[in-house]
Amino acid sequence: MNRLLYIKASPRGSRSHSVAVADAFVEQWKAVNPGAEVAVRNLFEMDLPPFDGDRIMAKYNIMHGRSHSLDEKRAWTEVEAVIEDFASFHRYAFAVPMWNFGVPYRLKQYFDIIVQPGYTVGMNEKGYFGMLEGKKAFVAYASGGTYAEGNPVETWDYQSTWLRMILGFIGITDVVWAEARGMLLDGRESRRSDAVVRAAELARGF
Ligand SMILES: Cc1cc2nc3c(=O)[nH]c(=O)nc-3n(C[C@H](O)[C@H](O)[C@H](O)COP(=O)(O)O)c2cc1C
Repeated sequence: MNRLLYIKASPRGSRSHSVAVADAFVEQWKAVNPGAEVAVRNLFEMDLPPFDGDRIMAKYNIMHGRSHSLDEKRAWTEVEAVIEDFASFHRYAFAVPMWNFGVPYRLKQYFDIIVQPGYTVGMNEKGYFGMLEGKKAFVAYASGGTYAEGNPVETWDYQSTWLRMILGFIGITDVVWAEARGMLLDGRESRRSDAVVRAAELARGF
């Protein structure tokens, strides 16, 4: 069954550039995959469990082969529900703004929840391996400035570099993207339109 999870990491609704680009991708993907299921998770509107004391203890219990207390077990059940939801899809679309050169804190929180030993990351004699295999992701990036190669601040982009790394860490290595960069600079309209066109193109073969 064709199932795509659309994850929105901008709280800006219809003003969001990353959401506009990701919307173009998702609409085109729906058009070429009639009958496929698309589910949306708006990270700033949904209830995400905090990754706090009991949940961290539960994570370490799993890593060290210890059993959970009742409170830890209860807290971990909520983590498992978020992981189960994410892992049940085989295609992903992300709308991701740049915030302070990285990703918005709700997206970081989301990954702090879903990156877990034995669920999305395994360990063998060679080290860690990602457990979510055979999946693909599209990412729409937006930022106020530009970080292209040759730009003096090109190394300040911890948004796309981190997201690609963490997706690869859990096994999602097939990742494509469209970028709406310079959204606080002159000429933003044409750069955003180019990103929308690229997103729709990418959706056709996804
Ligand atoms: C809290 C915050 C931090 C930001 N930090 C950066 C930054 O480090 N670099 C940058 O180029 N733009 C930065 N911006 C600008 C946003 O990346 C830009 O407005 C982008 O369009 C946001 O994506 P959205 O339109 O999908 O919400 C920041 C915006 C906010 C609200």
